[in-house]
Amino acid sequence: MTRRSVTCAVLLLMGAVAGCKRHPASSSALKPTAVGAAIVESSGGKQVGPTGMELADPLVVQVNDDQGNALTGALVEFHGPAGVRFRTAAVLTDSNGQATTAVTLGAITGRYQLSATTPGKTQVFTLPVVETALGYQQELGFIVADKYCSRCHDPESSAERVSNYDNLEVKPHPFNDGTTLNKMSDADLTAIIQHGGPALNRSALMPPYGNTLSAPDVAAIVAYIRAVAVPPYQSAGTFYEQK
Ligand code: HEC
Repeated sequence: MTRRSVTCAVLLLMGAVAGCKRHPASSSALKPTAVGAAIVESSGGKQVGPTGMELADPLVVQVNDDQGNALTGALVEFHGPAGVRFRTAAVLTDSNGQATTAVTLGAITGRYQLSATTPGKTQVFTLPVVETALGYQQELGFIVADKYCSRCHDPESSAERVSNYDNLEVKPHPFNDGTTLNKMSDADLTAIIQHGGPALNRSALMPPYGNTLSAPDVAAIVAYIRAVAVPPYQSAGTFYEQK
């Protein structure tokens, strides 16, 4: 066992113990004052984080009335497969119509299908949310790609990084663009990363990283690209889908 997986196991154990001590937030304790007509995502979906750890951003959903206005006091419940934990699994929407929780993904690498529900007058409204848990190698790939690649491959700028995407004459694809990247073999991904665009008759705007990154780092990036592909990358053994 690596030190990291021991840490994860310990964290999981602590989480499990904490989960036992605390009564699961039960919706019966909450007194909703409103009934919604729709539930929509505000933020926190499509996150990528290490297995068994709390995701960096909270999951925020909003309940609206039938006019599309945010509704205060509506009940929201969060659901997920075994291994997923929510800091609060049932919550009433606040004055902005929003319900917020923190999500901890399970110990198994893969995509987690979560949902947030709110009871309506005649039906329960459900919002599907997908989060991705990365294993050790994939997470390493995420960290390396974030450092070396995202300034060109991620069209969005962040607080730490101004995107170079708009300046590029040939546009690279975001690493979760499965429609494009699933068609490339592992060998082709490795070749273009190590030797640059011209290795695959592509633009030299894609630089070579063979001297900068080790072979294991490149393999980690490929594993990361496979893990976050939307639609999912289909290949037995490299993609595990949480049922
Ligand atoms: C300076 C900008 C820049 C950086 C930094 C960069 N790329 Fe690219 N990349 C490109 C461009 C431009 C293309 C498109 C080339 C083409 O289609 O002709 C590309 C294409 C690719 C492709 C082929 C799929 C696609 O998006 O079209 C892969 C895979 C890729 N890059 C991986 C990486 C990895 C991994 C890193 C970091 C180690 C990286 N790139 C860093 C600009 C960049």
